[in-house]
Amino acid sequence: MDKIIIHGGHPLAGSVKISGSKNSALPILAATLLTKETCVIQRVPDLSDCHYMLQILAHLGADVERASGIVTVKAEKVNCVAPYEIVRKMRASICVLGPLLGREKEATVSLPGGCVIGDRPIDLHLRGFQALGAAVRVHGGNVKVFAPSLQGATISLKGKFGTTVLGTDNIMMAAVLADGTTAIEDAACEPEVVDLANFLNKMGAKIEGAGTARIVIEGVKELHGAEHEVIADRIEAGTFLIAGAIAGKEVTINRVRPDHLSAVTDALRACNFSVYGTNGSLSICANGTTKSLDLKTQPYPGFPTDMQAQMCALLSTAAGESSVTESIFPQRFMHVSELKRMGATIELDGATAKIRGVDTLSGAPVMASDLRASAALVLAGLLAEGTTEINRVYHIDRGYEMIDEKLGELGARIERVKV
Ligand code: EPZ
Repeated sequence: MDKIIIHGGHPLAGSVKISGSKNSALPILAATLLTKETCVIQRVPDLSDCHYMLQILAHLGADVERASGIVTVKAEKVNCVAPYEIVRKMRASICVLGPLLGREKEATVSLPGGCVIGDRPIDLHLRGFQALGAAVRVHGGNVKVFAPSLQGATISLKGKFGTTVLGTDNIMMAAVLADGTTAIEDAACEPEVVDLANFLNKMGAKIEGAGTARIVIEGVKELHGAEHEVIADRIEAGTFLIAGAIAGKEVTINRVRPDHLSAVTDALRACNFSVYGTNGSLSICANGTTKSLDLKTQPYPGFPTDMQAQMCALLSTAAGESSVTESIFPQRFMHVSELKRMGATIELDGATAKIRGVDTLSGAPVMASDLRASAALVLAGLLAEGTTEINRVYHIDRGYEMIDEKLGELGARIERVKV
């Protein structure tokens, strides 16, 4: 297992190229199962989660080739069982259920366990499949869905914590080959859902309304192969903007969609940072003292839960009292105890972190836990006095392509050590 060592206090400057979106690439790769023809997906980030998805596609019978960021998939024949030993590595594997059900009218996938950010139920996914006419069997740690045929239906995906991103993806991928028209109400509006719908429409699907709370899918007989470039990773982009905020003179991020980052750039401006840019790029620089902020995570276009931990790291040294409320995954505060070990003063009150800004943080050995909490520790290490050692770096490698190399190119004193 590698660890990352950061010598804090070195200002960042320069520009960094943002990779393709993990959370867009994963469902789009799953969607290639919907056709027997060849699909070519560009800008697939070199991440362990994407490798796991390629392993699952291969296990399901697809021919998969990867040449740097370009993945070619041809699923001429597929079997319909995604086994535990692969699925357990990545919860998002659940998004092969929809395309397998859509194409083969059956699918068996090992149930995703919970994870450190909280319980990860799939009741909304299963509600959607049942509305399309599928039977659902949960047994022996597996979920099996099957149907003689799929009929279009009107489905609400509203749950206790709002809507579901992968649930919206799964139902869309099952409905594209159903008989008749499906309306998904209370659909997720994330850009990654729109990217998937755009890819499915290139394959011959008839989807309208992606990006709004109501998506309408007119079922077709079959889909054909297509080429598609994945959108920029808005969470990696936001993470590097916060790196520029927390430790930068001026940092520019390139190959991004600023419109996908509005809630993050609005929050950073509210903290007294200058954020500006042209189409495709954004720059950030300090503007005096970092101001405190009261923040609540929301479904898109609200402030993303995947940026919550990174904001806690930034607010740890903002002047005054801040609060961060997590409304999507109320337990998603694994980063707090580690930030406190670095000198942050944060108290948890249910799903709200109350942060009292300190002058600076102190480097320390810390433990990565989930993907975004780990990124928050890297950000804190950039600012902290002294050396921060982050163990279990595989968590970071799940969602950030070469984060140490990219930060090093911006002037960070950061190294990856094999242990
Ligand atoms: C996607 O997960 C992302 N993952 C997550 O990013 C992201 O945090 C999340 O959406 C929210 O934006 C991928 O896209 C691969 P949800 P997903 O279903 O779809 C509850 C990262 O760091 N819920 O939108 O699995 C659920 O418990 C990852 O890149 C149900 O109750 O999340 C949560 O509280 C972490 N029943 C809320 O809804 C269900 O059937 C939102 O979950 C499904 C979800």
